Amino acid sequence: MSIHAGQLCEPLNSLSRLEYRGYDSAGLAVDGDKKNEVYAFKEVGKVVKLKELIAAEKPDLTKVFDSHAGIAHTRWATHGRPSRLNCHPHRSDPNWEFSVVHNGIITNYKELKALLEGKGYKFETETDTEAIAKLAKYIYEQHPDIEFPILAKAIISELQGAFGVLLKSVHYPHEIIAARKGSPLVIGVKTARKMKVDFVDVEYSDGLALPAERASQNVALKKANNLLAPADKSLLHRSQSRAFLSDDGVPMPTEFFLSSDPSAIVEHTKKVMYLEDDDIAHIHEGSLNIHRLKKDDGTSNVRAIQTLEIELQEIMKGKFDHFMQKEIFEQPESVVNAMRGRLDPENKQVTLGGLRQYMTTIRRCRRIIFIACGTSFHSCMAVRGIFEELTEIPIAVELASDFLDRAAPIFRDDVCVFVSQSGETADSLMALRYCLERGALTVGIVNTVGSSISLLTHCGVHINAGPEIGVASTKAYTSQFVCMVMFALSLSEDRSSKKERREEIIKGLGQISELFKQCLKLDQSIKTLCEKFKDQKSMLLLGRGMQHATALEGALKIKEISYLHCEAVMSGELKHGVLALVDEDLPIVMILTRDGLFAKSLNAYQQVIARKGRPIIICNTDDSEFPADKTEKIEVPQTVDCLQGLINVIPLQLMAYWLAVMGGQDVDNPRNLAKSVTVE
Ligand code: F6R
Repeated sequence: MSIHAGQLCEPLNSLSRLEYRGYDSAGLAVDGDKKNEVYAFKEVGKVVKLKELIAAEKPDLTKVFDSHAGIAHTRWATHGRPSRLNCHPHRSDPNWEFSVVHNGIITNYKELKALLEGKGYKFETETDTEAIAKLAKYIYEQHPDIEFPILAKAIISELQGAFGVLLKSVHYPHEIIAARKGSPLVIGVKTARKMKVDFVDVEYSDGLALPAERASQNVALKKANNLLAPADKSLLHRSQSRAFLSDDGVPMPTEFFLSSDPSAIVEHTKKVMYLEDDDIAHIHEGSLNIHRLKKDDGTSNVRAIQTLEIELQEIMKGKFDHFMQKEIFEQPESVVNAMRGRLDPENKQVTLGGLRQYMTTIRRCRRIIFIACGTSFHSCMAVRGIFEELTEIPIAVELASDFLDRAAPIFRDDVCVFVSQSGETADSLMALRYCLERGALTVGIVNTVGSSISLLTHCGVHINAGPEIGVASTKAYTSQFVCMVMFALSLSEDRSSKKERREEIIKGLGQISELFKQCLKLDQSIKTLCEKFKDQKSMLLLGRGMQHATALEGALKIKEISYLHCEAVMSGELKHGVLALVDEDLPIVMILTRDGLFAKSLNAYQQVIARKGRPIIICNTDDSEFPADKTEKIEVPQTVDCLQGLINVIPLQLMAYWLAVMGGQDVDNPRNLAKSVTVE
């Protein structure tokens, strides 16, 4: 699910940029032209369907986008199937007195619903979100003079679960409330001209107390734009108002863009601030106030304005047909970005600034536990061996959901590493909180700057892969892999017995980008190969040792975007049951690149050949073991054994991509999936 709100913007384009997070329905609600009027539209399917609906029903609607506040949402269904009714925004009543969009889950919605139904409210959807809209109306009816932020505080105090919420109301025209707890929300700030000062802090205690040196500016602001409405004292001990001035100190019209991630914002502005849990942001007539849910909770309400580093072209497809294809082809650069300023092949050194302070503690820990989901879990699996070898610390790799289900024992001297592209995956986030509560040291390996996992962990490494829009993760996998290898190298830098091995790996990392480029040249031959088995219903992917992770990752890629059933098998297990599936038709991709287990991996190959099986092998270039006439081959360059998985995964990503394209699937938005899984 994704949320977006804005004033003076064209929200539908921005909403499309969030589509990768969920795309089974979309909707928007925007202030109408008349008092108490709301234009609301909802449609099943992608944002383009919503656009078509609006064009048909209200072709002149784009005009109101120029001056009014609106909220919009693309949904990935959790409570209630995808339908117009269940699609956001949700409303308090048929007149849309209150409209809400929401990411996450309200865990106590059944209780709220029962309470509100008892008061006569009629629910029309199967969603948890509707309870927020009805609750807003209920509280408002008890206190019709209440100010919007105070009302928001009362609503949010009743909600349990994880959420990012946007709220608007006909009772507060042109105002928007944004609140978060466990679900990301970022605010973009755009002024007409270059800002002279980013913002002005205003202290509220018993009254309005302006810092002396800024008082004159603020009085000017107040007069000109009525920007600094006094905050309600019962809600606020301290509030912050951000006023935006031109070079000559004159206030400028300011637009605010609220979104669950910056990709919807970057085309409008690069100036953003990230809300924190329990923040309630109030946007009103060009001003922004950030309130804390609980007075005096010890958290400042000052949110620094940051400059986004992403460029618009990074979130556009450019010359590629799909984001996934673009992201596969970006890997020669994205791995370099993961290593930039960190890996020094000449001096054979690795420096991870985000971990430096904690290195000694990590080296002394009882064990390191990697915790992640999906592809991120596979990258942890891929590096487990080299971590064990270099650090000699016991290593465990856990699926976040299973880890929580078992309530696995965690101790103060454990180090728990959370690996996540989005940094928002609910299972991983809950596992992180669980480990924090038990006093473990937590490390994040995260792509998304400002994400919950990167904020909550003690220390970590940003993988710097850039925005990943295709739902199937590709470049994040290889960058996570590289960052974790660098982590293992850093941890082992004091071990003289590992010197040669470390140097070999550092050299290998320095060459990886070039090898990726060579691998990507396989694109068209893999496409031709895929033609041969595109109509199959099932396939196997076999790997052993470090390549088992590659097989798992390849199989997930193929399943999720081509919908072809693909099972990853540890080669050694073939003879223990799976061999029964082998026949002349079943495609079996076997990873047979050279490493210490090559001879054993060959056994599986022989077993398949002996059953007249149909292997497609991934082997090193010109390996004499595999004569060309017998087998379908994908030849990849050789590198250090522990890095070979980085290379081997590329043909599998390409295979998944081409199988999906040939099957006519929606490559970037596979059915039933979402990029960021913010629910349990
Ligand atoms: C598969 C894929 C998912 C994610 C998983 C975890 O291509 O992308 O399996 O890897 O949902 O997401 P993050 O890494 O954001 O925690």
